[in-house]
Amino acid sequence: MRTVDWVDGRVQMIDQKQIPWKLEIAYFDDYKAVAAGITDMTVRGAPAIGAAAAFGLALAAQQSEAQSVAALVEDLAQAAEVLKAARPTAVNLAWAVDKLMALAQEGSFADVDALRAALLDAAKQIADDDVEINRRMGANGATLIEDGFTILHHCNTGALATVDYGTALGVVRAAFEQGKKIHVLLDETRPRLQGARLSAWELEQLGVSYDILPDTAAGYYMQKGEIDIVLVGADRIAANGDVANKIGTYQIAVLAKENGIPFYTVAPTSTIDLSLSSGAEIPIEQRDPAEVTTPYGNPIVPPHFKARNPAFDVTPNRYVSGIVTENGIARPPYVDSLKRAVAGEKV
Ligand code: MRU
Repeated sequence: MRTVDWVDGRVQMIDQKQIPWKLEIAYFDDYKAVAAGITDMTVRGAPAIGAAAAFGLALAAQQSEAQSVAALVEDLAQAAEVLKAARPTAVNLAWAVDKLMALAQEGSFADVDALRAALLDAAKQIADDDVEINRRMGANGATLIEDGFTILHHCNTGALATVDYGTALGVVRAAFEQGKKIHVLLDETRPRLQGARLSAWELEQLGVSYDILPDTAAGYYMQKGEIDIVLVGADRIAANGDVANKIGTYQIAVLAKENGIPFYTVAPTSTIDLSLSSGAEIPIEQRDPAEVTTPYGNPIVPPHFKARNPAFDVTPNRYVSGIVTENGIARPPYVDSLKRAVAGEKV
């Protein structure tokens, strides 16, 4: 089953708030509810929210009562703003919505139904492409993984973070499918615990050997020489190779460099934002402090205790050994290699 899909005229998502305790499917027939599902992290992970937003816009087209193509495009423009505001950091969301809006604005459609059908086809294509791209990244990244490697991983970048297969965990999966004997250390990833809840759930099902680590233990195992490579995903990569990813990624990257361990980011070219010259320009989502003080409704301190909850940080390019894309592994200088990867050239 795909993480996000279009089934019987509705958007279908695996409800990631329930995993690993329950596999519950959520259905959406209102684009505003899709946007809310992105914000509350029913669906999360950069490529998955891109596909969800694309299906959300296709849904908005079905919901609109517009009688002319021009009126439908106006309704779509409003829906696009709502969907793009759902989460700010992962550029895949805006990338997918803008792609569909460009089709709506530039295409020539006989009537509203033709436009509705074209948008749904385009959203389905984004979802199908994501799976294919992830498999290509998996194959490219698996060349970095040697038999016997222990891999440190942060957050969740598997099938659940994408339409299917995954990015950094897609590389793990590809290496495992090639018969390499590997072990994965999964940062639990406070405060929402995507590593412990989601990545471990996925590796359990795949049969890949893993242990969950407290986030604070990564340096300990690096110092002991037990980690061969770090693999993470990305929510947005600036033109210079600075990488925004789940909070805590930066400190892992610094520790990896200190300990001489290669640090790779695995991300599709749709995550690369060439319009930003450096990571300083990437908007960082600040989430509800209650996620820190009361994770999943379980208070760990009294409710009035103060907390901060930045959802992402930026790892400067000097800590990044390479960026695995569907078009190959981009290496420094990233200003050149990322531009070529985005243009579809093999890097
Ligand atoms: O807040 P989340 O869970 O959406 O954050 C997800 C991440 O940071 C992932 O590492 C990133 O989206 C890449 S996933 C393929």
